[in-house]
Amino acid sequence: MLLLPVLLSLRLPTVGAAQQKCPGYAARNIRQTTNGLAADLHLAGTACNIYGTDLPSLTLTVEYQSATRLHVVIQDQNRTVYQVPESVLPRPNATDPATAATTQLQFNYTTNPFSFAVSRPNGEVLFNTSGSPMVFESQYLRLRTSLPNHPNLYGLGEHSDHFRLNTSNYTRTFWSRDAYGIPQGTNLYGNHPVYVDHRGKNGTHGILFLNSNGMDIKINDTAGQYLEYNTLGGVFDFYFLAGPSPIEVSQQISEVVGKPAMMAYWTFGFHQCRYGYRDVYQVAEVVYNYSQANIPLETMWTDIDYMDARKVFTLDPQRFPLHKMRELVSYLHAHQQHYIVMVDPAVAYQNYSAFNNGKNLDIFMKDADGSIFQGVVWPGVTAFPDWFHPDTQKYWNDEFGSFFNPDTGLDISALWIDMNEAANFCNYPCSDPSGYAAENGFPPKPPPVRNGPAVTLEGFPADFQPPTNAKRQASPRASMLGLPGRKLINPPYTIRNAAGGLSNKTLGTDLVHYNGLVEYDTHNLYGTMMSSASRQALLHRRPGERPLVITRSTFLGAGAHVGHWTGDNVASWEQYEISMTDMLNFASIFQVPMVGSDVCGFSQNTTETLCARWMMLGAFQSFYRNHNELGNIGQEAYRWPMVAEASRRAIDIRYRTLDYLYTAFYTQTQTGKPLMNPMLYIYPEDPKTFSIDAQYFYGDSLLVSPVIEENKTAVDIYLPDDIFYDWNAGFAPVRGNASLVTLSDVNFTTIPLHVRGGSIMPLRIESASTTTELRKKGFHILIAPGLDGKANGSLYLDDGLMIKQPQTSLINFAFNNGTFTMSGHYGYPANVSIERISLCNIGSAPQRVTITGQPNSTFIYDKDTRVVAVDTMISLTQNATVQLPAS
Ligand code: NOJ
Repeated sequence: MLLLPVLLSLRLPTVGAAQQKCPGYAARNIRQTTNGLAADLHLAGTACNIYGTDLPSLTLTVEYQSATRLHVVIQDQNRTVYQVPESVLPRPNATDPATAATTQLQFNYTTNPFSFAVSRPNGEVLFNTSGSPMVFESQYLRLRTSLPNHPNLYGLGEHSDHFRLNTSNYTRTFWSRDAYGIPQGTNLYGNHPVYVDHRGKNGTHGILFLNSNGMDIKINDTAGQYLEYNTLGGVFDFYFLAGPSPIEVSQQISEVVGKPAMMAYWTFGFHQCRYGYRDVYQVAEVVYNYSQANIPLETMWTDIDYMDARKVFTLDPQRFPLHKMRELVSYLHAHQQHYIVMVDPAVAYQNYSAFNNGKNLDIFMKDADGSIFQGVVWPGVTAFPDWFHPDTQKYWNDEFGSFFNPDTGLDISALWIDMNEAANFCNYPCSDPSGYAAENGFPPKPPPVRNGPAVTLEGFPADFQPPTNAKRQASPRASMLGLPGRKLINPPYTIRNAAGGLSNKTLGTDLVHYNGLVEYDTHNLYGTMMSSASRQALLHRRPGERPLVITRSTFLGAGAHVGHWTGDNVASWEQYEISMTDMLNFASIFQVPMVGSDVCGFSQNTTETLCARWMMLGAFQSFYRNHNELGNIGQEAYRWPMVAEASRRAIDIRYRTLDYLYTAFYTQTQTGKPLMNPMLYIYPEDPKTFSIDAQYFYGDSLLVSPVIEENKTAVDIYLPDDIFYDWNAGFAPVRGNASLVTLSDVNFTTIPLHVRGGSIMPLRIESASTTTELRKKGFHILIAPGLDGKANGSLYLDDGLMIKQPQTSLINFAFNNGTFTMSGHYGYPANVSIERISLCNIGSAPQRVTITGQPNSTFIYDKDTRVVAVDTMISLTQNATVQLPAS
């Protein structure tokens, strides 16, 4: 008997003796409901009050929302504890409720101490809380599930760790943070407390914890394998998702967080940005240089440099004067290009219209004494909009309406929003914001004014031409560092916020929003609320058009409104590699499919080979933008011949495959099926795919396997037991045999790409300088038969711009035993045709190829690659059948 406490503490060292003393809860009054069950939970002993006060009475609600979705909520009986507002994340309806008999997820419980388990009908236990007592306190929730040994867990972001999560002594912290350098093992900008648990042949499931409070999720194997939620508030609100395939789990996540918003076709073009363009001339010069280098530039961006002393909704009258900015935008539009600028949430606390308008509407966050809360961001002292205030949307619409007015202001095509964690350089309690701003040089001194660019920009208006003897000056570097080590507001339980105390480098967690919610609970929603308000403001400005908003901070459900870039990465090979898994987390798990990293790296100077490789890898992100930091060397794609060539080649492939990407994106908006696929999503039964970080499928057909080291021209890639076709070798077949293959001689302008057997890819017949031109090109259908000789694919067509589409086409392609068929729905007047069909893996030259209604089709057979290419003219407005050789 005496040994028992010792044994307990040996077995459960990480729980801590105090927590083990917590009594847990006892379930009473258990009753069946229409789709599940309900119960009352009462504290089962003396309160332990370890990190707050134990709540005596809770309720349990279990709902079989569908055969594959189980919703479990444990909340306070009085319903006073904070929960994520439905206005921020609408809850899914139980459209197709299941019963205990039809569900694929069974809920079992024990009454005293209360614990529960979720299992599959075959007995596979997915979640089991019986190992340690549940804690539900005023400032601390704890729930632990045991897991099988060595689980394959994915998600729980935003993070820059390996795609398959570490399962030993590993903590994931959820607290939005301005995370310069996106360091591993820390909390970053956004919060998506959802994970995918992949058990190979035993299936895959997902668990989403709908909670916005700060938390640490601990995964460890010291007391058996477990995953433990340690949360600073809110309630236990779980969605269990049955899969059973990884793709189905992702689809089920989309049913909870909302389907992603569809993006305009042009947004998939190549974007150029940087922090530190000194004036409008330099921005024009970059546009010009891209066209001179023959590298397609779809969209030019400008960072906060355009603002007057960094104040949002202003233009620097000398460096970025309105009339020249309007000329620049007109020039871009006349060349089928687009313009995007950044807006931060923080509004300069100064006498100017954006601040005065906000003050008049009273929409800024307030301190306890009713005065406007002041922090420090780029312009110096700033105020922060309260997105919960009922007039904030009007304020945002009005500011956008006037500043971005197409007739009188800056006619942007889309928007970039930043610093919305919310970032605040001044550490808590920030008692002297003006002093802090002055001491730390906010706003930074702008570069000297000049009257024109240093070079002639042919084709630009006259006042974009250089004055005689123009000289270039270097831009100064801004400091982003605040003072560490001040006093903090600490709840009793401390999460591992890399910024220190909860209120550090952000808004005070004691601030109260207009609607009474406190920042302590809603901090993790700030960026996502700014995102949806910005989307609404863009819609208000251009009703009906699909807005593109690229945000830094996100929460569950962000993809329904916006896209995301992965923040301030480093120009290093490690972070080049991380960019793949960072993207996969967002695109495949969090349902934010418009996503990409800063190509060539944001902080530190890039290198020529890194930038060449990254320009190619970035072409296989959904969001493709080169961006870097003030003070670093320029890294536009034309700066080195090698990078320019790599970019031209990669953009050529990206644009030829753009409709394939667009179709995959559209499919995700409709079904949640991810447009990017980790290898295990396509080969879920192949254990060698479970830990792969540096290869993935772009769409579900194109395997991307980049070189990942400096100065290397070789890479070991994994090819599963399947057939592939080498993009860079004219689609010659490559038989994978579940092992590593060394690719040597991968020069610096080539990225290894393989088409998966079983795919039909709709390609444009050639690339173009803009996406507008690209849409005028015909199609080339690439048929890559699988080992069974069959292949499938699809093509979605619409006008590329509007939310509501009166006429769309969704065409299914199939190839089976020599017959290629097109079927589906044809509403969009494409005005272009299929001009070529290529069929891979044909052993000998065919006798003939028969296309219905086109008796004498010409074709070429290449015996080295085994590809037959047929020239044709098939309309995209009706079904068609083509008799090809059998594969
Ligand atoms: C931080 C952003 O992450 C970065 O992309 C941007 O360049 C700077 N803020 C300046 O606006």
